[in-house]
This record gives sequence, C-alpha cells and structure tokens, in this order.
Amino acid sequence: MDRIRIVGGQPLKGRIPISGAKNATLPLMIASLLTDEPLVLENVPRLADVALLQRILGNHGVDVMVGGKRPGDGEYDGQTLHISAKRIVDTTAPYDLVSRMRASFWVIAPLVARMGEAKVSLPGGCAIGTRPVDLLLMALRNLGAEIEIDGGYVLARAPHGLRGGEIVFPKVTVSGTHTALMGAVLAKGATVIENAACEPEIADVADCLVKMGARIKGAGTPRIEIEGVARLDGTRHRVLADRIETGTYAMAVAMTGGDVMLDGARPELLQAALDVLVEAGVEIAATNEGLRVQRNGAGIAPVTVTTAPFPGFPTDLQAQLMALMTRAKGTSRITETIFENRFMHVQELARFGADIRLDGETATIAGVPRLKGAPVMATDLRASVSLVIAALVAEGETLVNRVYHLDRGFERLEDKLSACGAEIERISG
Ligand code: EPU
Repeated sequence: MDRIRIVGGQPLKGRIPISGAKNATLPLMIASLLTDEPLVLENVPRLADVALLQRILGNHGVDVMVGGKRPGDGEYDGQTLHISAKRIVDTTAPYDLVSRMRASFWVIAPLVARMGEAKVSLPGGCAIGTRPVDLLLMALRNLGAEIEIDGGYVLARAPHGLRGGEIVFPKVTVSGTHTALMGAVLAKGATVIENAACEPEIADVADCLVKMGARIKGAGTPRIEIEGVARLDGTRHRVLADRIETGTYAMAVAMTGGDVMLDGARPELLQAALDVLVEAGVEIAATNEGLRVQRNGAGIAPVTVTTAPFPGFPTDLQAQLMALMTRAKGTSRITETIFENRFMHVQELARFGADIRLDGETATIAGVPRLKGAPVMATDLRASVSLVIAALVAEGETLVNRVYHLDRGFERLEDKLSACGAEIERISG
C-alpha cells in the first residue's frame, strides 16, 4: 500500500488547479442511466471513486469511454467521459461493489425510473456514522415504488413507471435529494420536494438533467418542482469546481503561511468556509482566475464553528479546519451536526501533539505552539487530508498510511502541493 511522506515547515507558494467536484461527478455519472443516449461529462477528476463507479455502471451494461488528451490540454485538465447506457442489461447492484462506495446505492433511482425495477445491496457500515438510507426509500415510495428488503438487498419495483408525488424530507439529505430528483424526472406527473438539500452539486446535477430534457424548477433551493417527462436525451456537461478541494487547499495555505492562487475555484460555492478563514486571519481575494489565499506574518486566530447543510460550513471541511485550529493562538470549538461519528481524525491529530477534547458532538481545540511529525493513518477521505494539513507544519517527518483514502477524493494531491514548495512524496508499495 502506498504511503505519503511529508517533512513540514515550508510555506506554500504558487498555483494549484482545482479539479472537478467528486460529489457532482458521481451523481452525474449515475444520471447517465436515465437515458439511452450518450452523456458526455467534461472536467471529470481522476479519482479512485470515479474509476470504481465506472466498474459499477459497467455491470449494468453501461459503456464508459475515456477521451484522450486534446491539443492545448494541460496536465491537470480533467478527463472527458463518454457514457452510454443504451441497453441496461442488469438491474442488480451487488454487495461487493456497493459496499465499497456508498454513493453507488444511488443507482436505485434511475434504474427503477427507467427499467421499472432495481435490486441494490444495502451499503452497510461506514466509517463516519451509521448513514441509513431510510429517506431515500421514503422518496421512492412517495413516487409510487414498492420497496422490499430481502437478504440485505433493497428491491424497488414500479412496473408501470414511477408517478409524481410530494416528498417532504424531515432532515436535509443530499443523497435523498439526488434520489428524489432522479426518480421524479421520469415519473408521470408533477413532484414537489420540500426541505431539499441546496448543495451546489444538486444544482449541477439538475442543470445537466435540464439539458437532457428534464423539467425542473428550484434546484439549489429548499423547494424543487419537477414535471416528469417520458424520456430524456443525451447531452454534454462540464462538472463544476470542487468546493471541498478548494477549501482544503485554502486551509493548507492558512496552516503553512504563503500565497497560493487556486485556479478555477469558485468562491461563492464555499463562502461560509472562506468567512471562517478570514476570521482566522487569512487573506482571501476572489479574482477572475479563481481564489487567492495568503497568510503572511499574522498567527492563526481561534474560531467557533458548527457544521450545517449548504450554505452553512460543510462537514466535509470539518476535519481540515480542526487540523488548522491545532495551531491557533487560543481555543477553538467545532461542532459536527451532520454525521454523528465524524471525529476519527481527533486521535490521529493527537499523535502530532495536538490538544483536542471531545465532548459529544463538540471538539474543543487548544492551540499548541508546534506540532511534531508522526506516523499516522485515517479511515476516511477528509480525515486523511486533515493529517496532511497538520504534517505540512509539523517538525520533522510524517508518514501518512492508507493513502487510498486520499486517492478516492483528491486528484494528485502530492503533485499539487509539491509544485507549491511542500516537501511531500508518495512512497509506493
Ligand atoms: N440520513 C438519514 N437517512 C437517509 C439519508 C441520510 O438519516 O436516508 C442522514 C445521514 O446519516 C446524515 C445526514 O442525513 O446524518 C446527511 O446525509 P446526506 O444524505 O446529506 O449525505 P450523503 O448524501 O450520504 C453526501 C456527500 C458526503 C457529504 C454529505 C453531506 C456524496 C457522494 N457524499 O453524502 O461527502 O459529507 O453529502 O454534505 O455526495 C465526502 O465526500 O467525503 C463525503 C462524505
């Protein structure tokens, strides 16, 4: 298994290109199941999760062709996927595939919408909490699907097609909203989704669905209205910039000091996180090219932050902010409200000498004057990258184990950071 070796102490200076968003790419690829025409996705990041979803879709009979480089393409330009679900040959998503990536459960909605049936394994355990799928199944039931659980599989049936309905989510859920949207676009009649997730990735998927011929109003707001259509066409769509990758590198610069241009970043996608960084003493400037992040001289001021659905502070940046606050001049408080168990990074950050106390869903972080490198590992993607952020200022050497978590969601992390002066390398094997 690969490891990443980091020697801390270098400020970051230069440019980092921001990739397409993982959490938009995955549902966009899944949306390809809704049409027998080709869907072309541009700016797709090269990530392990994308490759795995290609395999999962392949199992349903979907052809995925990865376009080659074009003249003028830079080394960091995203890939172009040509996805064709002309004939769906299998409506079953087996356990050994779904258990490796939770988002693959979402194939259930387009499969039942287009084929009238789906058999999808329940995703099983997850390092960041229980993460049930009850609200996804509620959405499908409200669209007329019959749902049965048998042998660890969800069987969803709608032999005469889904029909429009009212879906009121008792709590905001990204996965539930994707499911409701992908079911409703091919349902007969009108659907209203209330308390929908407003995450930019939902709006990006809805934009693509509209280009495919879907009739959707209000995506990106808590109330989405959909008028079902009989069929959808193919289209070409460019995946939006990854706001979590953007926030992660902004926090890395905040940690090390320095001056970095995040090329292609879209600040409006992560305003809450940028506000917190400004409060912590970081200079942020939006430009035509993206986002310029600087911290020169001034120390890191402590903050109090609670995670929340968009437009609040994202749970996917909670671990990275905690790493940053280990070096603040004072005591910070971070409360996690989205996932009940998303604190695995706390004990690993302690290995650098961080002073963090956990009390229920709140972590209290007393800033320390220095961190020291250590061998560390983490059990999820965002926790892993928080360890990289700590390592970038830790004295001496850090070895980050289980790098495959990073490869799931960060494209060429070590190349992007070393191009800005970090002492970081991948050790294969
Ligand atoms: N929930 C339920 N029942 C359900 C569905 C969700 O109780 O049927 C709960 C969850 O357990 C959680 C809360 O609702 O407590 C929110 O879950 P949500 O459905 O919004 O999360 P998700 O769709 O499973 C996506 C991202 C996550 C991100 C969350 C929150 C993708 C592929 N995943 O997950 O990203 O943290 O939204 O923004 O889009 C990551 O990229 O590292 C990651 C974990």
